[in-house]
Amino acid sequence: MRGADNAPRADPHPLVRELRGDRLVLARVRRGSIFQLLGLAAIAAVITSLVAVLIPWLPVPASKEAGRIHFVFWFTTVICIGVFAAVVAVMAYSVIKFRARPDDDSDGAPIHGHTKLEIIWTAIPAVLVTAISIVSAIVLAQNSRAGSHPLVVQVNAVQFAWKFTYPNGKSYGYMTLPKGRHVKLDITANDVIHSFWSPELSQKQDAVPGQHTYLVITPSRTGTFPVICTELCGLGHALMRSHVTILPAGRFDAWMKSGGAAATGPPGLAVFQQNGCGGCHTLKAAAATGKVGPDLDNLKQEAAKAHQPLAAFIKESIVKPSAYIEPGFSNAMPPSFGTSIPADKLNQLVQYLEQSAK
Ligand code: CUA
Repeated sequence: MRGADNAPRADPHPLVRELRGDRLVLARVRRGSIFQLLGLAAIAAVITSLVAVLIPWLPVPASKEAGRIHFVFWFTTVICIGVFAAVVAVMAYSVIKFRARPDDDSDGAPIHGHTKLEIIWTAIPAVLVTAISIVSAIVLAQNSRAGSHPLVVQVNAVQFAWKFTYPNGKSYGYMTLPKGRHVKLDITANDVIHSFWSPELSQKQDAVPGQHTYLVITPSRTGTFPVICTELCGLGHALMRSHVTILPAGRFDAWMKSGGAAATGPPGLAVFQQNGCGGCHTLKAAAATGKVGPDLDNLKQEAAKAHQPLAAFIKESIVKPSAYIEPGFSNAMPPSFGTSIPADKLNQLVQYLEQSAK
């Protein structure tokens, strides 16, 4: 500080003169700068809009619900771009116009708040945030409406696979849905908390043991899209993937009648697929490429190492997986398959694995 703090300055900073009253400041902004501010805001808005539009941040929605969710994303993004442009314009303008000269070491202007300005910059964000919450609430309400006759699919998550059961009692390790019909997923888990997610469907829902959670999907686009577990659930979490295929309504009905693709192979293959074994294991015969557990094409050698007959070894490894751990692998297989797979299906699975190992 240069001694004479209280003495009037001979040459006060131009800002100080202008801040003696609101009118002076506004007058100066009006006089020459409003166009410069708008120009800076436009540049910021165009650059951010290009970043928002040109980079494919979101997948193309495959359901009506996803379309609505994307609308909320874009609604929020447009508001964010507006706020960002306004802030950047004022900031850039201030830096360019009001920066101190290199030899200027005087104090800044004595500003003690500006009530009008503070009311405005509190009210505008409050209105915007309220608008976002209203739009979100409407979308959430619409997205939970399943209509009076939805197709109900039971979704069961286990470490580390998905099982989808249809009203006719058939189960699959992947999901097939009809385009244009309301589908209600009834989601639960056997062991730990998992979470259902398909990026193209844009919705996520936790799968919780002992509880049922729901998700409404109205497929709007045919195709095959990934289904991903999005809750860290153990060693095989990253590989707990399946897929959903959306078929035109007519082809879906035909698929339901035919009993699905798995019915064309040996019965043990259907059990293998329904229980998601391929999520963790490799088996050429089933086109499975999982890497969490041992390669099932080597079952014969592994049975020999465990000094057991092949069929008994396979059965024990499914029902009581901790009894023998293949060197190089950890005790990651859930012990629940012995109870979750009915005895006849278990025998079909053991027979199938035994035959494909020979
Ligand atoms: Cu199941 Cu992560």
